[in-house]
Amino acid sequence: MIRSVVRGTGAALPRRIMKNADFEGMVETSDEWIAQRTGIRQRHIAGDDETTASLGEAAARAALADAGLTPADIDVIVLATSTPNNTFPATAVEIQNRLGMHHGFAFDMQAVCSGFVYAVTTADLYIRGGLARRVLVIGSETFSRILDWSDRSTCVLFGDGAGAVILEAGEGTGGIADRGVLAASLRSDGTHKEKLFVDGGPSTTGTVGHLRMEGREVFKHAVGMITDVIEATFSQAGISADDLDWFVPHQANKRIIDASAKKLGIAEQKVVVTVDLHGNTSAASVPLALSVAVADGRIKKGALVLLEAMGGGFTWGAVLVRW
Ligand code: ACO
Repeated sequence: MIRSVVRGTGAALPRRIMKNADFEGMVETSDEWIAQRTGIRQRHIAGDDETTASLGEAAARAALADAGLTPADIDVIVLATSTPNNTFPATAVEIQNRLGMHHGFAFDMQAVCSGFVYAVTTADLYIRGGLARRVLVIGSETFSRILDWSDRSTCVLFGDGAGAVILEAGEGTGGIADRGVLAASLRSDGTHKEKLFVDGGPSTTGTVGHLRMEGREVFKHAVGMITDVIEATFSQAGISADDLDWFVPHQANKRIIDASAKKLGIAEQKVVVTVDLHGNTSAASVPLALSVAVADGRIKKGALVLLEAMGGGFTWGAVLVRW
């Protein structure tokens, strides 16, 4: 059977780093509060010349270089983002053009922080369905542009950045020893819209709007949702937490990551954490964390890796991949 095998990874971060202490003159907060409640120590913030498209392009080029491929080798681009350059056209098409790619097709997926997990699942279906041989999956965000910088309960949590992976069709036997995407589970539930949303949009206010979040409420739901969808993925694949080599969760809050890993029985040393460096970069957080763990040699060929995310909507999901 056909499997979607990871061929390369890449990442891109804005030049400017904003430390927790840099907020102290802007809103009533402290490095200590932010670090203790979230695990975040710094985040990257896009400059005027840095956008979701430019960061996405840079991450894509890094993934292509890692894979030893060129844009000519890619059939489809799927971009997970909630902060597109324009309402339309899709920023994925802009990235396609920036890469000098005028064949195939490209489109955006919007599932907020779960976007990358949704996009990998979609790319896997294109590959297994025979519509594409290689798919470039990008998560790129500039959440700094939709933050209310006077709201201390949200502005300290998010950052900008991009990550990318290239999935390629490979041969598998159908078992969990195969390389590639092995199992996935996605969910959404709109009853929680008001707990995490952006208060603007083309069809309502005609403005871009700002991110609004009832953090405590989101926190209350997060661990249960994350663990449910991971357990569904484990049972699809017939594995347990002990079989995992690496857990790469959405990087929103270190306390959510720790509580989820604990509830699932995933050992602390198997958890990839980058929230301290990047903050919550929404759809970019999982591919950014993946890139870090691949670049520093933790994630190697053959490793069993679990990706997970939860975000606005609510949306949530998990993907099991053998590297
Ligand atoms: N600095 C100092 N104090 C603050 C700050 C701040 N930056 N922000 C809030 N506070 C205050 C609050 O006003 C509150 O004060 P009060 O007790 O006088 O009312 C107090 O700190 C505690 O606030 P809580 O909201 O209860 O703090 P909590 O421990 O829940 O931490 C946080 C807040 C970090 C937002 C947490 O709830 C969280 O991480 N929630 C989940 C976020 C998340 O995972 N989002 C999903 C993905 S995002 C996406 O999809 C786009």
